[in-house]
Amino acid sequence: MGIKYTYVGHGTHMLDIDGQKVLIDPFFTSNPSTDVAADSVEADFILVSHGHFDHVEDVVSIAKRTGAKVISNFEIVNWLQGQGIENAHPQHIGGGFNHEFGYVKLTIAHHGSALPDGTYGGNPAGFLITAAGKKLYFACDTALFLEMQLYGEEGIDLFVPPIGDNFTMGPDDALKAVKLVKPKLVVPSHYGTWPPVAQDAEAWVARVKAETDADAVALKPGESLDV
Ligand code: NI
Ligand code: MN
Repeated sequence: MGIKYTYVGHGTHMLDIDGQKVLIDPFFTSNPSTDVAADSVEADFILVSHGHFDHVEDVVSIAKRTGAKVISNFEIVNWLQGQGIENAHPQHIGGGFNHEFGYVKLTIAHHGSALPDGTYGGNPAGFLITAAGKKLYFACDTALFLEMQLYGEEGIDLFVPPIGDNFTMGPDDALKAVKLVKPKLVVPSHYGTWPPVAQDAEAWVARVKAETDADAVALKPGESLDV
């Protein structure tokens, strides 16, 4: 029993939950943060938070090759089905479902969600995952919002917020998010990929440790930890 979390880089994450591979927001081909090739990635499930290219770029190719079930909002699942992805499960904000690896609830996210071809991608989401006795909250691309406090009441073991600023929360708001969520462990994401989201993640981690009760670690792309 256990969860191994890997920070692929930018907004892309991999979970190994008792041998089931859950890929979040597959962005490999144009991702400056990773050398991993999309055609080498294994997945049993793929979670897609919103429609922006840096979150959906490789979803169709990986889903078709692996047969992984794609979990996303209703609009994005419709878009994927239009491209021949049959194994897809639509949910929406506030709704959860028991998948084979665990319970996934789509959370609020304040952001955009247009798909690369201009299709309306519904509302963007984050993911609250309950699996293997743990709770993980991937905020995905979002601004700070006060309801994060309610997600925190569930008792979060791992919180993964964006810290890049410009497109999402920056370091100051992400620190406020940690104070709302009160997780055991924090790993920052969505920074360092391009100049507009350049951040000093080690300095941010030091602030989290000094100003909150959470532990924090800045994983380099490709690094893993046991949740
Ligand atoms: Ni985005
Ligand atoms: Mn993004």
